[in-house]
Amino acid sequence: MSADSCSGAGIRALRFHGYGEPAEVLRLERTPPPHPGAGRIRAVVHACGLTPADWALCRGLFPGSLPRGIGLEVAGVVDAIGDGVTDVSIGDRVLGATDYAGAPSAGAADAAILSHWARMPAALAYTDAAAIPMAMETAYRSLEQLGVTAGRSVVVHGAGTTVGFAAVQIALMRGARVVATAGVTYADRLRALGAMVTSYGEGVADRVLQLAGGPLDLALDTAPPHRAANTGAGHLPDLIRIVGGVPRRVLTIADFVGGAKLGVRTSLGDSEATLDDHGRPQLSTTARRHPGLRYCSASSRSSPRKARSAFRSRGRSRSRTGARRSTAA
Ligand SMILES: NC(=O)c1ccc[n+]([C@@H]2O[C@H](COP(=O)([O-])OP(=O)(O)OC[C@H]3O[C@@H](n4cnc5c(N)ncnc54)[C@H](OP(=O)(O)O)[C@@H]3O)[C@@H](O)[C@H]2O)c1
Repeated sequence: MSADSCSGAGIRALRFHGYGEPAEVLRLERTPPPHPGAGRIRAVVHACGLTPADWALCRGLFPGSLPRGIGLEVAGVVDAIGDGVTDVSIGDRVLGATDYAGAPSAGAADAAILSHWARMPAALAYTDAAAIPMAMETAYRSLEQLGVTAGRSVVVHGAGTTVGFAAVQIALMRGARVVATAGVTYADRLRALGAMVTSYGEGVADRVLQLAGGPLDLALDTAPPHRAANTGAGHLPDLIRIVGGVPRRVLTIADFVGGAKLGVRTSLGDSEATLDDHGRPQLSTTARRHPGLRYCSASSRSSPRKARSAFRSRGRSRSRTGARRSTAA
């Protein structure tokens, strides 16, 4: 789509006008192109990431004005720039997070308003680029919050997830010593990056402690919630043991209720988030503005894979992003 096409018959966008199951509330519609306000840009969408967070939004997570679109992460070409934006130009290839709450459509559309963005490296494909924003931002924010710095040791539990795979790379780049728990799919790649790797599941605490030669400083839980989540009886007790029995050295991005029960930190932030009776996050205005908090696992029902290869620089293998991407161009 060209920049001009945003001013003609409108754009196509996947939107919902009421909350409910995605298959029931989502509609493909034509709508006027959204205009970027101050501090925002508009991009013609070439690839859009869809994650469980999108289905959660349809079901009513973070309710707000309707209609609203889905697609929280995109890659595309800048075609309009709001006041105050100076770091990109029309025609730049960008990846970033969509302003899903501030615009009547989001990334699953011909064009989207972005609240956060970065210019795409020339060698990166749009489909790979669209897999990066959410996972990388979540990993970065969680490691920041946890205090992973050079010389510290950290276990990334669930490093075969998109977020975990990114977290391992960022932690290693920071100079941390990293132990990763993962399945066979990405174990070799994680080792090649420089992490010590063992499998997750029964006996994980013993394996990690043996591999690391003793307790680690910190633990990041990126594993998808399983049936014991929310009870405090999942894998969080293992992670607490791995860090020497101190719950505050553990941070989870997925098991918020279990984490709260055990005194473990959560990626929702320590002072900004509370949970409702169903364990759904209720966020303060400040927290809502944070891009990473747009992706929340509380209502996730599926967990398809994303492109791990997108996080690496040159020489990466072809990603599997296309399997879960909607391409709107
Ligand atoms: N709080 C936030 O801001 C935020 C942001 C993003 C995501 N999340 C949440 O973080 C979690 C990960 O998201 P994602 O998109 O990165 O996941 P994903 O890529 O869809 O993760 C799928 C992978 O998880 C691994 N896995 C499955 N069961 C596991 C278990 N019991 N223990 C450890 N690993 C297991 C499997 O990899 P292998 O078996 O091959 O290793 C599987 O391929 C989800 O719960 C998601 O909702 C939270």
